[in-house]
Amino acid sequence: MENIHRHAGFPRLWSPRRNAAHVLFVAGQIVCRGVLNVSLENKVAIVTGAARGIGFAVAKRFVMDGAKVVIADVDDQAGEEAVKDLQSLGDAMYVHCNVAQRLDVRNLVAETLNAFKDIDILVNNAGVVVGADFLELEEDDFDRVLSINLKGAFLCSQAVARHMVEQVEAGGSPGCIINMSSINSVVAIPNQIPYCVSKGGMTQLTKTTALALAPHGIRVNAIGPGSIMTEMLSSVNSDPAAKNRIMSRTPMLRIGEPSEIASVAAFLASQDASYVTGQTIFADGGRLPLNYTVAVPDGD
Ligand SMILES: NC(=O)c1ccc[n+]([C@@H]2O[C@H](COP(=O)([O-])OP(=O)(O)OC[C@H]3O[C@@H](n4cnc5c(N)ncnc54)[C@H](O)[C@@H]3O)[C@@H](O)[C@H]2O)c1
Repeated sequence: MENIHRHAGFPRLWSPRRNAAHVLFVAGQIVCRGVLNVSLENKVAIVTGAARGIGFAVAKRFVMDGAKVVIADVDDQAGEEAVKDLQSLGDAMYVHCNVAQRLDVRNLVAETLNAFKDIDILVNNAGVVVGADFLELEEDDFDRVLSINLKGAFLCSQAVARHMVEQVEAGGSPGCIINMSSINSVVAIPNQIPYCVSKGGMTQLTKTTALALAPHGIRVNAIGPGSIMTEMLSSVNSDPAAKNRIMSRTPMLRIGEPSEIASVAAFLASQDASYVTGQTIFADGGRLPLNYTVAVPDGD
């Protein structure tokens, strides 16, 4: 979209859903050519944990790129509201699914196939955090985080990959899986033990499933966001010291937007990433390359 010249006052005679190269006419003249953002036209995508936050941004971007999207979440009210937003842009459906429950996952796959016939893209995004000091951490909390963040991604990947392999064997195109990891797959926070462990596991889940599914042409990659402004990070908004700590470890000196993670997902899901598998792409404002800290200007 970057190479489109915007001319105030003249209509842009293209639609974000039209499939093909586009031509922009201004006062009857062709001023620019480019390729429309329809890279996911007619693809079917499941995005877990998409009732809000990063998952919702990914679902929205996919719908805008032409995909039919199933939002899977445990928050039914937020899920139904989110899907209404998406339906104003394209095809979308909400399915209740606790990703840690095998039967819920099986139902998610069945409902998706029932509605849209295929599954081309899975985004394992659902995730939770439980903060506790190591010596105080409860076993149940450890299990809960691991079962949603890591086992949930495994259950969804296996159920969807079984269908994707059948799809390939029937002559269809191979799909792809995207795991929502984190910079905490590499660096760690001492009072976020299960979360960091789950994201470390996500790196190996991504690599192992990528290798297992490569013979079928199915690609598996992960995204490692830094600090992104969602409810998961909401406590930072009201805590200047916490915000300052984050900024001092963020060379770009700002918290990321969910849409900036969605655009990485859109790339990984598209044919532009056709030879990329087993990778984690970090979108973190420069945090992982940074040793020490950066100076934070006053007022930030
Ligand atoms: N926000 C950040 O800074 C950040 C940074 C790195 C990675 N991430 C990762 O991105 C993903 C999304 O994070 P977010 O910030 O949008 O979080 P969020 O809390 O805003 O949204 C998480 C969504 O997951 C859903 N969910 C929770 N448990 C579920 C379950 N068992 N089954 C299905 N859905 C469930 C919630 O209802 C919610 O809609 C997570 O995997 C998180 O670890 C976030």
